Amino acid sequence: MSEHSVDTSKRRFLVAMSSAVGGIAAVGAAIPFVGSMMPSARALAAGAPVEVDLAKIEPGMMLTVEWRGKPVWIVNRTPEMLANLAKHDDQLIDPASENAAQQPEYCANPTRSLKPEYLVAVGICTHLGCSPTYRKEVAPADLGPDWPGGFFCPCHGSRFDLAARVFNGSPAPTNLVIPPHKYLSDTKLLVGEDHTA
Ligand code: FES
Repeated sequence: MSEHSVDTSKRRFLVAMSSAVGGIAAVGAAIPFVGSMMPSARALAAGAPVEVDLAKIEPGMMLTVEWRGKPVWIVNRTPEMLANLAKHDDQLIDPASENAAQQPEYCANPTRSLKPEYLVAVGICTHLGCSPTYRKEVAPADLGPDWPGGFFCPCHGSRFDLAARVFNGSPAPTNLVIPPHKYLSDTKLLVGEDHTA
């Protein structure tokens, strides 16, 4: 056997050894990886984003979808509704959305939204968790002449405007939550995932 052929067979042996070791290591690594993937796959299914067809929502109307077991409202706000939002900042607990826990940073603006016309909000009262009622009409008899349109919680009377901001004197301490969301197109909204995902 020449020196060359000894070297070659030694090399083959080393290659075979390292492949076997690599194979064992890969199997060892694969088991915990699969195990840790299973809960997150379940979590993903439970909190999967929800696609919404905005073409179905006429101006002034509200659509409710379910995301993570919660109602999420999408309101197509008219120009009049948007104009009214600017008129009552002095009656609100947090008019400038300074409480960062209540909305993503990209919705900490006067309309609390990515696109002014669409409000996307979790429809759960921040007092004790009832679902407020959409009361878009201005100055209805039961809510009084100052009512600018918004959401009224029937449980203990919390009042929110059409940007889901809470009025002073409500038992609810904070504005309603704005969930993460993004637009897939002019008519498609994705609730539960944003540009940071
Ligand atoms: S739960 Fe809405 S006011 Fe109490």
